[in-house]
Amino acid sequence: MCGIVGYLGSKKTKDILLDGLQELEYRGYDSAGIAVLQNDDFSVYKAVGKLINLQEKASSFDPTGFAVGIGHTRWATHGKPTELNAHPHLGECSYVVHNGIIENYAVLKQTLQKNGAKFLSQTDTEVIVHLFEKELKSSASAFDAFTKTVSQLHGSFAILLVTKSEDKTIFFAKQGSPMIIGKDADSEKYFASSDTPLIGRCSEVIYLDDGDYGYVTPDEIAIFDKDSKKKTPYFSKLSTNKLSAQKSGFRFFMEKEIYEQSEVIVDTLTGRITDKEIHFEELDSRLFEGINEIKLCACGTSYHAALASSYLFERYAKIRVSVEIASEFRYKEPLLCKDTLFVVISQSGETADTLETLKMAKKAGLKTLVVCNVDNSSMVRLADASLLTRAGIEKGVASTKAFATQLVVLWMLSLYLAKIKSSLSSDEIARQISLLREVPGLLKIKEELHEKITRLSKRYLHGHGFFFIGRDVFYPLALEGALKLKEISYLHAEGYPSGEMKHGPIALADPELFTIALLPRHMLYEKNKSNVEELSARDSTICAISPVEFDKADDYVKTSDVKDYMLEFFEMMVIVQLLSMEIAIRLGNDVDMPRNLAKSVTVE
Ligand code: G6P
Repeated sequence: MCGIVGYLGSKKTKDILLDGLQELEYRGYDSAGIAVLQNDDFSVYKAVGKLINLQEKASSFDPTGFAVGIGHTRWATHGKPTELNAHPHLGECSYVVHNGIIENYAVLKQTLQKNGAKFLSQTDTEVIVHLFEKELKSSASAFDAFTKTVSQLHGSFAILLVTKSEDKTIFFAKQGSPMIIGKDADSEKYFASSDTPLIGRCSEVIYLDDGDYGYVTPDEIAIFDKDSKKKTPYFSKLSTNKLSAQKSGFRFFMEKEIYEQSEVIVDTLTGRITDKEIHFEELDSRLFEGINEIKLCACGTSYHAALASSYLFERYAKIRVSVEIASEFRYKEPLLCKDTLFVVISQSGETADTLETLKMAKKAGLKTLVVCNVDNSSMVRLADASLLTRAGIEKGVASTKAFATQLVVLWMLSLYLAKIKSSLSSDEIARQISLLREVPGLLKIKEELHEKITRLSKRYLHGHGFFFIGRDVFYPLALEGALKLKEISYLHAEGYPSGEMKHGPIALADPELFTIALLPRHMLYEKNKSNVEELSARDSTICAISPVEFDKADDYVKTSDVKDYMLEFFEMMVIVQLLSMEIAIRLGNDVDMPRNLAKSVTVE
């Protein structure tokens, strides 16, 4: 889950590489580095930590004229986040950057070391460059050596390699990790592991497929597929809208993204609802023919969206649903039956564990669907059908608007299916659609609410832990609230079903245990209330989020008097997001780039 950029041309190479890395920094910020090849000479800069350190180190470097450059921002997998382990990695005359994992690196490394290769780092990546240089000695050309190298690598990778003997070429390979080639108005070529660094520079891009490899020179883009057949490059138009990827006055991307939820949900709904039905242009209703069960599979926040939607699928579409954590599902030797629709949910569409489960389901012959935010991502390309969430680029590592839009799409899908299965009356579907229409309005954040949460946050900076509790769909929301808080405040938090507290966790209750209680009016209010009272009686500090005043709470955030629990869900979602963010800000944390995390986890 690192970020990769590359460039061949005569513009400002350093700026292009560093600007590109800036766009990708959210994917990993343990270290960053660039290597620029010009006139047979390499200039290399690497720095530990955030990109600013690399920018400072390279401040006096200013190459002019034609150059070939590669860059990388790292989220450490093999080897500590040190400068030696930072990419690009050097052989004798070549540099490589890599995203993913070379699974057979230990075996390769041993053989290479026996042949005299000197390894400097603890990374799996370094084997690529030594292997290439070994092959170079006995190959007719650098490309020949590169081809032989790639054929020996197992695992997932996106690779860029540059070598002195071909100082106008970048070699590339893609297997399981994303890689895009871009072209600007002057036909200069770029590489990036996602499209953000290319927006504004390139008008056209090529999304590489798994197994693709080749080389790019100023005059040629040569792509070969996994069977070594030369492909005709297929260019797609690239969006020009970079604005949405900038902070527009907010302190953090996460804050901007929380505020954006109202607008992006309008986008999510656009063209998909009429007064009476849900319309998904992308779906063929035959996808559901012969389907008796839905299996939802995801990681992290997307898993919480899956879990919340499972209540809706069973309640509205009357279909059996199971929800799986992708990293668990991969190895449990699951029974996959053909009457199951396999649905993966992913913001990025690249999460390795989720992607793998999708491959498993496909292999077992199941029908597959992905709910995803990134068009052309690996999952979108692999699944039989896809529903895009249309949240726009999400930069904050802690996911917010992606979650909101996933939930809206899944809610719509449950109604779409309810219609097919005639499990809800048309009046009820129409009522649900009118609720969906109310979501964007509810998500417009009022100044007083945000102020109140900011004030409140100062009372929740210590303690020995947080419990977010709720029932029904508010239980996954509690899980999500706790995850948000953990991710960015580094405080311990758990999400729990309210009714389950008495079976163990209540033993922790004391004034230093903070309970964030989700108490909607329209979902099991009385049951929930008694669970919270039990905690209050044991002196836990309670922050109640509810439309109903709750006198047993120490703090109380009032929500609106809306007419359905799903509307309460979205309002409470914003409150837990803001509360987590304000706590983290008070603690002085970098909300957008929390420690040890990465936006997109493309390794196991
Ligand atoms: C990482 C991110 C989480 C995200 C999870 C799944 O852990 O930090 O925010 O929820 O991956 O990502 P996906 O892109 O598949 O939704």
